[in-house]
Amino acid sequence: MSIKNIRLEVMQTIEKEIDGYMEKYLIPPEKIWQPTDFLPDAQGENFFDEVHQIREEAKEIGYDLWVVLVGDTITEEALPTYESWLMDVEGIDQHGKNGWSKWVRHWTGEENRHGDVLNKYLYLSGRVNMREIEITTQHMINDGFDIGTANDPYRNFVYTSFQELATNISHKRVGQLAKKQGNGLLGKMCNMIAGDEMRHHLAYREFVKTILKYDPSEMMLAFEDMMRKKIVMPAQFVRESGEAIGTAFENFSNAAQRIGVYTTHDYIDILRKLNAYWEIDKLNDLTDTAKKARDYVMKLPDRMARIADRVAIPEDITRFKWVEANGML
Ligand SMILES: [Fe+2]
Ligand SMILES: [Fe+2]
Repeated sequence: MSIKNIRLEVMQTIEKEIDGYMEKYLIPPEKIWQPTDFLPDAQGENFFDEVHQIREEAKEIGYDLWVVLVGDTITEEALPTYESWLMDVEGIDQHGKNGWSKWVRHWTGEENRHGDVLNKYLYLSGRVNMREIEITTQHMINDGFDIGTANDPYRNFVYTSFQELATNISHKRVGQLAKKQGNGLLGKMCNMIAGDEMRHHLAYREFVKTILKYDPSEMMLAFEDMMRKKIVMPAQFVRESGEAIGTAFENFSNAAQRIGVYTTHDYIDILRKLNAYWEIDKLNDLTDTAKKARDYVMKLPDRMARIADRVAIPEDITRFKWVEANGML
């Protein structure tokens, strides 16, 4: 059987359990939090007082944190790109309405709330240039992305296992910083988002773990390939109005590293966690090339840690069109 056919068979086998996975890792619309639970109720009498409070608290937030918050929001708002990407993955069939496409739709439904709540918060805060943010979001959706997975389910699930944990970490840290800077509401919102990302991470890492049982060598090779390419964050494709792709991400990423929201050490940590959960070191029933891939991935965290210590993060704040200078520092 060809490599492609085996992947399809594995996907079909896991698909039989998809309802169980959905019940365990996703939450139905009526039971899950909605953006309105945290934002001022526009139908309520206290709406203007609540908006006023948001605007007052927002004055305490520093420049880098705004940049990171906006970057995170834009990343969440590019959701159409992720859904269309996943729908194209081998074994996920939206026309046949199979279980996997149902998973992707429900996952999308949960994710959609993240950009929604953050966007509304940014708008109400009165501290950012919404038009520039909107232009950036539209550019990002127009540009699309290439995360190096092609339509291979194995590579895609490595990517999502990694990425969901990365977003969990960054939303959680933004929340902690916001709370520390006197913004309890934003802190709570980010924490709730981080909780969703964690559930998604747990699901995707489970899919990979299950695939490792059925097709260990191919899964191992897919994991190695993704780690050699490095996991590219969706925000890597962000650009400000009129700018090229690349510069904005570097500056955004530096801001995130400066305030400790998401660093190279977090990347390495995620890799260690995945290696441990997937028990990569215990995989023995592998082809010779897959054994080499296993050894490469096992050694990678230490190798990366040695390099990371030598890289210095620029101390100077970079200005973005999203966040204007007025009284922000
Ligand atoms: Fe999200
Ligand atoms: Fe997510």
